[in-house]
Amino acid sequence: MFVSYAPAVILAGGKPVEVPTYEENEFRLSVDDLEKYVTNKTRALIINSPNNPTGSVLTKRDLEEIADFAVEHDLMIISDEVYEHFIYEDAKHYSIAALDGMFERTITVNGFSKTFAMTGWRLGFVAAPSWVIEKMVRFQMYNATCPVTFIQYAAAKALRDERSWKAVEEMRKEYDRRRKLVWKRLNEMGLPTVKPKGAFYIFPRIKDTGLTSKEFSELMLKEARVAVVPGNAFGKAGEGYVRISYATAYEKLEEAMDRMEKVLKDKKLT
Ligand SMILES: Cc1ncc(COP(=O)(O)O)c(C=O)c1O
Repeated sequence: MFVSYAPAVILAGGKPVEVPTYEENEFRLSVDDLEKYVTNKTRALIINSPNNPTGSVLTKRDLEEIADFAVEHDLMIISDEVYEHFIYEDAKHYSIAALDGMFERTITVNGFSKTFAMTGWRLGFVAAPSWVIEKMVRFQMYNATCPVTFIQYAAAKALRDERSWKAVEEMRKEYDRRRKLVWKRLNEMGLPTVKPKGAFYIFPRIKDTGLTSKEFSELMLKEARVAVVPGNAFGKAGEGYVRISYATAYEKLEEAMDRMEKVLKDKKLT
């Protein structure tokens, strides 16, 4: 679960409830698990595909089941699709709002940070029914007024210019190359790792080393000088895993994998 969701729910006066996902089905959110956590107080469901931190991608069938679940329990859906353009192999990105009858209960959130690597420019966008947008505009108007104008022009240009879409595809191909490298190397060094289908994160299982996620991350930081994030920073179900971002140069990732492997070998952890 992306780290901002729970604080955002608390800020809005709600109570966040975390639904775990599991390695066994490539960390895809399942309706069986949702059923265990839904109550008559549940108002909304946040979904995120492609996912941070696991790199999982929900299938069309997964989304259809989640849509039926949302209708059955009368829930709004907040669908975070910021990684929609970073999808690999046979995976496809689907927007739940595009399924029959779902637009009316879905708030789709997206941004320019990932697609166009405009992270520091702080611009996002939302698609939702007009009654939701009206309320959001009111909130936005009295909080931030509006995003900086030159960034709005840049974003419009990025969306319309075919050169930027070419750059996105080049980025996607490069992420794919890095994904394959990191996935192969992690498995080879004895950390069982699901092959992610989207975003630019990978989520190796480290529990067989006998270390907690925090201990493992601190060890890698101190001994290998490699920064990974403890899995439990993303929720309880993340304990026993760490998150690695492969949004850095291929050569750096090769070096990081060499260093991690050496520490694991020297300490006889795998
Ligand atoms: C799943 C997810 N949603 C949203 C964001 C926020 O992106 P930004 O605020 O830069 O648009 C991130 C950033 O890491 C993310 O991983």
